[in-house]
Amino acid sequence: MKTETVAATLRRGSQTATKERAVELLRKGEVVALPTETVYGLAADALNPIAVAKIFEAKERPRFDPLIVHLPDEQWLERVATVDNHARAQIKKLIAQFWPGPLTLVLDRQSIVPEIVTAGLDTVAVRMSSHPVFAEIISAFGKPLAAPSANRFGRISSTTAQHVFDELGGRIPLIIDAGPTAHGIESTIIAVHDNKIDILRRGPITSEQLAEFGEINIVSAPKDVSAPGQLPSHYSPKTPLRLIDNAESFALGANYRVGLLAWNASIPEERFEAIRTLSQRQDLREAASNLFRCLRELDELDLNLIVAERVPAQGLGAAILDRLERASQDSDIRDTPE
Ligand code: TXA
Ligand code: MG
Repeated sequence: MKTETVAATLRRGSQTATKERAVELLRKGEVVALPTETVYGLAADALNPIAVAKIFEAKERPRFDPLIVHLPDEQWLERVATVDNHARAQIKKLIAQFWPGPLTLVLDRQSIVPEIVTAGLDTVAVRMSSHPVFAEIISAFGKPLAAPSANRFGRISSTTAQHVFDELGGRIPLIIDAGPTAHGIESTIIAVHDNKIDILRRGPITSEQLAEFGEINIVSAPKDVSAPGQLPSHYSPKTPLRLIDNAESFALGANYRVGLLAWNASIPEERFEAIRTLSQRQDLREAASNLFRCLRELDELDLNLIVAERVPAQGLGAAILDRLERASQDSDIRDTPE
């Protein structure tokens, strides 16, 4: 299949060829890669199981991994999900504060949502993207879109249209290019019950921000849901990755090509084959938005090892660390230097 990348030149309410093309493909039950404020998503009609199956095929994603349903507007919320009366006030507050934006809520599913979307679970993950291009296309489409990150299963999420092409070129008809995504990491996923907020995946909305809305409970690895975004190994570069506290004290074996994903500014340059600094001014937002691009760049250099310096664990840093920890999980470090 030929994959076309088209630059988004959308203006609110404008009828452009790009938007029409995307909407037409979605109506036909095809998949389209779209920018969101977090990472690029691979979108399809959430209410059309055959269209959704194409997402799983293109990504080689196992069917047991449920998708996030993106809503055109808040009216759609209670058509796809049930909002529990006990949690209603709290959920409404969270939505008022964070939607549209990078917060995904796991709620009870309505039967209109096909089983393939939720992988047979009786819950559904929903969010509303704030990206103007995504918002315009989904509102023209007029129905919810299922959209996982636009990468092959288990790999690093795409934060540019080029990344999407590298991952899925030849497998999907259209990529809408709106430049690098703002947040650079995937949405925060929560479930709300008994006044408590379970954080199922850390993301741009931090636990500090959520703490105003209820008692926080960080759920590390759920046993009853086979949800790879929450499994320890995910977001993996091909190159083994190891987390370290500080590059200054990292000792190298001879003949190893090691790349550094740096947080700290003063770096012993000669010891590394390549260095990518997450943020020169140590700004966690900038670091999050650069994270996956830096990882991809290092991953393309045929290194023996990538070492990543730990970032501070507060605020957005916790979400960055979470991705780095997962990326380091299935790394085979047996033949890399100690
Ligand atoms: O920022 C994002 O959330 C991006 C953009 C494209 O919206 N999407 C994204 O989707 O990251 P994906 O499929 O890569 O990750 C969704 C995660 C998966 O780990 C999945 O297991 C989890 O959400 N998930 C989906 N439905 C769930 C449910 N009902 N209960 C628990 N986890 C769920
Ligand atoms: Mg993903």
